[in-house]
Amino acid sequence: MAHNQCTRRQMLQTGCSAAAAIMLAGCASPSGPPALAGGSGVGEEKENEQVTPGEDLMREHGALGRILLIYQVCQRRLQGGQNLPEGLLAGQAMLIRRFVEDYHERNEEQYVFPVLEKAAQAELVRTLLAQHQAGRVMTDHILASAQVGCQGPARQQAIDAIGQFLAMYFPHMFREDTIAFPAFQKALPLEQYRRLGEALEDREQQVLGKEGFEHAVEQVAAAEKTLGIYELAQFTPR
Ligand SMILES: [Fe+2]
Ligand SMILES: [Fe+2]
Repeated sequence: MAHNQCTRRQMLQTGCSAAAAIMLAGCASPSGPPALAGGSGVGEEKENEQVTPGEDLMREHGALGRILLIYQVCQRRLQGGQNLPEGLLAGQAMLIRRFVEDYHERNEEQYVFPVLEKAAQAELVRTLLAQHQAGRVMTDHILASAQVGCQGPARQQAIDAIGQFLAMYFPHMFREDTIAFPAFQKALPLEQYRRLGEALEDREQQVLGKEGFEHAVEQVAAAEKTLGIYELAQFTPR
């Protein structure tokens, strides 16, 4: 997997075709990761900023996973007859729509799934695609319930839709992390993988704006703080 450590950011940051060629040669080496550029502090810093397309998709899953944990808390509170902080569920459902459905999943559908289909993973792709579509319907239901404050029949509708969403998305993203993305990485030639990385970078700017991922994580963290689940140490057994 060492060859895939070479990324669009590394290539863009070199700003030099000769350097890029050297980088690519280093990345193609089966013996290990490419040597750090230069050895200067600046070069090392740039190396640390590298994100491959696979890493991009997986860290997006990390943000999605945190939203799923927020959904879990919301569902439990609704089941217990409690009201949710105003706007919190709608805000997270909108984040799912914008960050997960309209960005992350569109990238998977446009760039990852066609490669997987050619790599004898057509059945897996069919299932993942059907789950993306089902997820969008569940988000519609969650948003509709949240917009009326989960009051009356909307409370049970939210509980059910969140339950279905959680039951589907944990296995969905774990299957992508362990089967789909590794198969995708293996199937794609290095040069195509590099170009895909650049395309993803452009799309991130277009769809989410500058530092779109970081802003999504900030929104997640704010909701966690509101719900009292932000401090990680609270989950350590005492
Ligand atoms: Fe997916
Ligand atoms: Fe995904």
